[in-house]
Amino acid sequence: MRCFPVDLPRSGLLAFYCPRDRGQTGGMADQYAHSGDEKRPTGMPALRWEEPPEGPVLVLLDQTRLPAEEVELVCTDAPALVEAIRSLAVRGAPLLGIAGAYGVALAAVRGYDVDDAAAALESARPTAVNLAVGVRRAHSAYRAVVDGGGDPRQAAGAALAAARQLHREDAEASARMAEHGLALLDELMPGGGHRILTHCNTGSLVSGGEGTAFAVALAAHRAGRLRRLWVDETRPLLQGARLTAYEAARSGMAYTLLTDNAAGSLFAAGEVDAVLIGADRIAADGSVANKVGSYPLAVLARYHHVPFIVVAPVTTVDPRTPDGASIEVEQRPGHEVTEITAPQVPVAGAEAGGGIPVAPLGTTAYNPAFDVTPPELVTAVVTEEGVVSPVTTEALAALCARSRQVTIS
Ligand code: MRU
Repeated sequence: MRCFPVDLPRSGLLAFYCPRDRGQTGGMADQYAHSGDEKRPTGMPALRWEEPPEGPVLVLLDQTRLPAEEVELVCTDAPALVEAIRSLAVRGAPLLGIAGAYGVALAAVRGYDVDDAAAALESARPTAVNLAVGVRRAHSAYRAVVDGGGDPRQAAGAALAAARQLHREDAEASARMAEHGLALLDELMPGGGHRILTHCNTGSLVSGGEGTAFAVALAAHRAGRLRRLWVDETRPLLQGARLTAYEAARSGMAYTLLTDNAAGSLFAAGEVDAVLIGADRIAADGSVANKVGSYPLAVLARYHHVPFIVVAPVTTVDPRTPDGASIEVEQRPGHEVTEITAPQVPVAGAEAGGGIPVAPLGTTAYNPAFDVTPPELVTAVVTEEGVVSPVTTEALAALCARSRQVTIS
């Protein structure tokens, strides 16, 4: 597929447009599994590093435009990447970490102030701890060379190597989470035919590999043991409807989209065997911050005796955040609630969000991007290092210690 530029909106950020093959993803919201015709979850990687003659760039698949069209954003400096992170063109905890690490490398290879770039990237979004972890990893690699007397080119090479390593590790972690998660599902529900409810988007769009919670559902699908993936639309920004349904359709999974407020009746009808979600930060006590709407699902799951399973890499566990109350929850602009934006409809770029108003002018909105689920409502945390259940401070600390040993050795 050829890409061609359509817009040069601001310095540092170029947009390219690639028409999507609609035949691959069209169809009804409720799709049935078809084996032997599996497509890659997305036609383009969520993120890639490129080195054209004009200089290195970070290319992002603009997730705000999906599923209507596949548009790539080309970032040539860290401020452009910060903007892409804030606008959710690039999003999801593990991918934010990878993007942050490449952002530091980008600043370094292009000769910008790396300390400033790292600070701006790290604070672009506050809840997903992976962002800070990724930024710090590349920044430390850079600083180690500079502080040791190395030249800036060597230091930039070290930052890029660290970003590439994190990217690879995330893909490997994703594959191992899928294995552990499927084994857990099979243990909890030995008969197969799993009916899984998921929220937000946790597939290859957020990962160096196939994602977190979505990767587990995909493994169940490939093993012939997924009966249905229930996909919460995930208001206000519709990551479920726009992105998870897109990935499920491309993977040939049996999936059905529902509005978030339909989940209760689905549980009551006995149609959900397990909830699988990702995480943006897991505090030391096991409290899980994830997309707003996750906590109500955990409450529903407990009432209906359904396992509530969190799938996340060990890098999402943050020993420095002691409990749920200490997690900073990102508050997003009210216009995301008072207006509807659709990926097909270009945003007018006016005051507020430029979308279609659905509330009276002047309405104020409560718009936390995440909520926090207490550990007692979490049946298990699935990581690449194994499954933690019950979810306790001690078990998570042991997991982190084990993971550090593996990384160091
Ligand atoms: O605001 P977003 O779209 O970045 O939120 C993403 C989520 O909440 C995901 O569920 C979470 O990052 C886990 S992704 C593996």
